[in-house]
Amino acid sequence: MTVRTVIAGTGSYLPEKILTNADLEKMVDTTDEWIVSRSGIRERRVAAPEQATSDLATEAARKALDMAGSSAADLDLIIVATLSPDHFFPSTAGLVQRNLGAFKAAAFDLEAACTGFIYALSIGDAFIRMGSYENILIIGAEVLTRFINWEDRSTCVLFGDGAGAAILRREEGGERGVLSTHLHCDGRLAELLYAPGGVSRIPPSHEMIDQKLNTVRMQGNEIFKIAVTKLREVVEETLEKNGLTEEDIDFLVPHQANLRIIQATAKRLNLPMEKVVVTVDRHGNTSAASVPLALDDAVRAGRIKSGDRVLLEAFGGGLTWGAALVRW
Ligand code: ACO
Repeated sequence: MTVRTVIAGTGSYLPEKILTNADLEKMVDTTDEWIVSRSGIRERRVAAPEQATSDLATEAARKALDMAGSSAADLDLIIVATLSPDHFFPSTAGLVQRNLGAFKAAAFDLEAACTGFIYALSIGDAFIRMGSYENILIIGAEVLTRFINWEDRSTCVLFGDGAGAAILRREEGGERGVLSTHLHCDGRLAELLYAPGGVSRIPPSHEMIDQKLNTVRMQGNEIFKIAVTKLREVVEETLEKNGLTEEDIDFLVPHQANLRIIQATAKRLNLPMEKVVVTVDRHGNTSAASVPLALDDAVRAGRIKSGDRVLLEAFGGGLTWGAALVRW
């Protein structure tokens, strides 16, 4: 009998503090008009000083467990996708395990920037289909605003904080579940989007901090072009692998970096925008948290229906990109 990985529940958490484009107009030389027309972003959330990534991740996980009707004690594995962990080590996933009291679960972090949640879904699906585990918690969580240069208008207007989670469960014989996942990376393009300092290449020092080398650098324009091309390719790869055409896709849950990139992928799939989740206006780019935040938004709004073929995709630092097709 076919073993499939089902998404049994989703959850998300956003910090309370809202930073609007009008707030940013007072901080750097920018305008609401520029930010909205170039990116689609109107506001983003900022974590409270006492909140770290594991705190946001834990809140999202609790909601996902609740929707799935699962208990933390049932979890076999916790994967946290993040590029803004609580510490160098130990993993943020271990801290989430502690917060939830999920002491049976193995736990590790995964770093694939904005594509992290798709990577986590792919790994979780493989563990379940191999027969290693039956209940897996995957989370994308970021407190990115701690790694932003608030004087750099080309990046500081784009990013926000948040967390999204999903419970993966083994199911036998049914139609629903993860149909395929597709992961990619081109390390030759690593420096188009990175935070150069603060770890082993350029260790922490006063000079490193003075030069703000621990903050995000991005060649947005270059990335924009590559993102549109690579996302089109990975959509085609997903359709081909499953013997499907555009008409077979019912819903798109894209990475929320830029409304224009989302519209380009929707156009490739001939999907009207009412079949596409857009949260970038409210959340900004929350990196690994963006796809699960958008997924939870659509699930809780009742927009994704049982039997729908849902395409999840993401693109980000690495450069990494990927997609997953799920029968809901
Ligand atoms: N306000 C006003 N003007 C600005 C701002 C700002 N906040 N930021 C840049 N500008 C100016 C630039 O200086 C430039 O001026 P110039 O022409 O005089 O030199 C002009 O606006 C155009 O800048 P571009 O960077 O070419 O603008 P673009 O249309 O490409 O939009 C953006 C920029 C929104 C960053 C877009 O390129 C983008 O979204 N790129 C993709 C980002 C992405 O997907 N990243 C991957 C995921 S992130 C992750 O993995 C962590």
